[in-house]
Amino acid sequence: MDRLNRRGFLKTASAATAGTLVGGGARMHLLAQEQGEPAKPVAANDHIQIALIGAGGQGQGDTKVAVQVPGVKMVAAADCYDGRLTHCRELWGDDVFTTRDYNEILARKDIDAVIIGTPDHWHKQASIDAMKAGKDVYCEKPMIHLYSDGPEIIRTARQTNRIIQIGSQRVSSIVYAKAKELLASGAIGQLNMVMAWWDRNSSLGAWNYTVPPDASTETCDWPRFLGTAPKISFNAEHFFQWRKWKAYGSGVAGDLFVHLFSGTHFVTNANGPVRAMATGGLRFWRDGRDVPDVLIGMFDYPQGFNLSLRVNFVDGGSESEGLIFTGSEGTMEIGGDAVSVNRSPRETEPGFTINSFAKATAEQVVKEYREKYPIPHPTGPPPLGYEKYVAPPGDDDSYNHFTNFFEAVRTRRPVIEDAVFGFRAAGAALLSNLSYERGAVVRWDPEEMKIV
Ligand SMILES: NC(=O)c1ccc[n+]([C@@H]2O[C@H](COP(=O)([O-])OP(=O)(O)OC[C@H]3O[C@@H](n4cnc5c(N)ncnc54)[C@H](O)[C@@H]3O)[C@@H](O)[C@H]2O)c1
Repeated sequence: MDRLNRRGFLKTASAATAGTLVGGGARMHLLAQEQGEPAKPVAANDHIQIALIGAGGQGQGDTKVAVQVPGVKMVAAADCYDGRLTHCRELWGDDVFTTRDYNEILARKDIDAVIIGTPDHWHKQASIDAMKAGKDVYCEKPMIHLYSDGPEIIRTARQTNRIIQIGSQRVSSIVYAKAKELLASGAIGQLNMVMAWWDRNSSLGAWNYTVPPDASTETCDWPRFLGTAPKISFNAEHFFQWRKWKAYGSGVAGDLFVHLFSGTHFVTNANGPVRAMATGGLRFWRDGRDVPDVLIGMFDYPQGFNLSLRVNFVDGGSESEGLIFTGSEGTMEIGGDAVSVNRSPRETEPGFTINSFAKATAEQVVKEYREKYPIPHPTGPPPLGYEKYVAPPGDDDSYNHFTNFFEAVRTRRPVIEDAVFGFRAAGAALLSNLSYERGAVVRWDPEEMKIV
């Protein structure tokens, strides 16, 4: 079933099944599919031509989703490992132009937009080079590797008037949109805490990705991969498992905390924390990596809530990821394809403690209390207010995120996750690395996007 038909089918399916699915106090809803206008037909000569820079796991995955958006055509790919360029031609046809040097792609006039799926240490340069060459950019998260990357990317986007979307696709999720709406409507009262975690207990979860048997200086453009990273001789693990070294990646903070920040900022409308503390350690994966495999961060938000984050590659349990928003009137949890709200309204009476008082005193307290609160509180817990909202099957954050990007490419209207949003999420995430390395509290100005 192609994408358009599938979306049509989902609209029908959600209309037929929306509403109360579970009886009693607990209610489950299927989140409504967007009810906007049907996709406009795209003229054959009106294709958006895209190219991929950094054709590894995520870049190829992104491109597979991007080409499902009507009117998008994949025409070129750049990568430093020949095997991935071969696979791009296997996936998208022999007429896809492939090269090790992304400048050859940027020089082509027929390419409108690029997807950047390189390791983090190339995000800034590739984005800036692409925007200066007149291309719109979809750049994977985390937007920055160094703090100085943020202002440079934002400035270039403004100067060149290019669209840039950052790839934390959760902000385009129907589930996160519902969570945002629920929070704003007061579903859990006043927000005071957010707790989010990402636990993995597997080798692949800890980034030990497969090194292909043909990896060599013949098949890998090692100097180009290194870019501005320290010059060392060819190392296939560094090339294919780059997240394990901070020369190329940003540890669990840049890889995973950043998604949790993007989600939290989107749902709460916050721009970022003002104070950060983090601790952790390299507990298990002592395989030469120089970043921790356990990281716990705490962040103070000026809106009056605290955020606590945990990533654990040694958790001894199953893989799990989630966010819990705690408010004065209940909790809201995002997990998988659903958001649930558990309301427990505050009791209106303060109650009393009298057991340890002399009998006469206790009786006096009860008497005075009942004069003030004449209607006895009903016995038992307050009514349960549990509701669950589930995304329709097949709803895809990445597809929604690319749809938003390509609409912006066509209309020049702003994207949902621009460079400022991307810097605020990644800048907040990387505070954890600073705090962990310094063993100290770090302060951040989320409005100015500066370390204080
Ligand atoms: N949004 C998400 O959910 C998500 C998921 C996974 C990864 N990512 C992000 O995607 C990016 C890529 O991650 P990955 O897992 O695909 O890594 P990967 O190692 O599989 O792929 C990266 C590719 O970039 C290529 N590359 C390196 N330097 C290059 C250059 N100068 N020019 C062209 N190509 C170059 C490498 O050869 C490699 O093939 C990372 O920034 C990561 O954080 C995002």
